[in-house]
Amino acid sequence: MIPKGLFLTFEGVDGCGKSTQVARAVESLQRRGVACMATREPGGTRIAEKIRSLLLSPDNDAMVDRCEVLLYLAARAQHVEEKILPALADGVVVVCDRFQEATFAYQGWGRGMNLQAVQQCNSFATAGITPDHTFVFDINIDIAHTRLHNMDKSPDRLEGNSRSFFKRVRQGYQDLVRSNPQRMTLLDGGRPIDELSLNIISKLDFLLEQKRIAHA
Ligand SMILES: Nc1ncnc2c1ncn2[C@@H]1O[C@H](COP(=O)(O)OP(=O)(O)OP(=O)(O)O)[C@@H](O)[C@H]1O
Ligand SMILES: [Mg+2]
Repeated sequence: MIPKGLFLTFEGVDGCGKSTQVARAVESLQRRGVACMATREPGGTRIAEKIRSLLLSPDNDAMVDRCEVLLYLAARAQHVEEKILPALADGVVVVCDRFQEATFAYQGWGRGMNLQAVQQCNSFATAGITPDHTFVFDINIDIAHTRLHNMDKSPDRLEGNSRSFFKRVRQGYQDLVRSNPQRMTLLDGGRPIDELSLNIISKLDFLLEQKRIAHA
């Protein structure tokens, strides 16, 4: 089955501005009458949100790398089958806050796990579905960290990782975009919010046109 909708993902290190831009993109699509849905990973469904809690709880600091990656993929399998695929089949534009590239960058580059093995397990979890387009917000690790610090929320288990971990994750995202220049766009996450959303919306117009999804 070829999905009729459009599957968009927003990626980058913690604090790069993903959630801000997901909200902006969905608002813009809704204003123009495009059927769309915002969702996130890990999570997006009741079961996957339970797995999210396991993954993000700082109590679980003893979690080993293979357990971590398999939990992310378990949550993704549930999310894809229960929520993403049905929406795409209905012609909905799905805007997802993190997806497979987060696993490649965090577990592959960040944790140093075998990337090919991670990618194979990911394909099993997603039943082969890949995003139509992925926006990656590239940002200096210290700026991203300061942003999160200013939000005054307590750090989750992943955010407790070292600066060198996040530098590897950032590098991973950059390398992934370089290897997939058609499907992925690298944006400078240090630019102002409005400027970034204008860039994204103009790319969305192009993608909607390509898929011939009606918009005003
Ligand atoms: N382009 C930007 N310039 C300045 N501040 C920004 C920009 N984008 C987002 N912010 C601010 O940075 C903080 C983090 O943004 P946001 O929550 O969107 O990041 P995130 O990538 O979703 O983070 P997380 O990975 O923790 O979910 C928020 O306070 C947000 O208002
Ligand atoms: Mg967020």
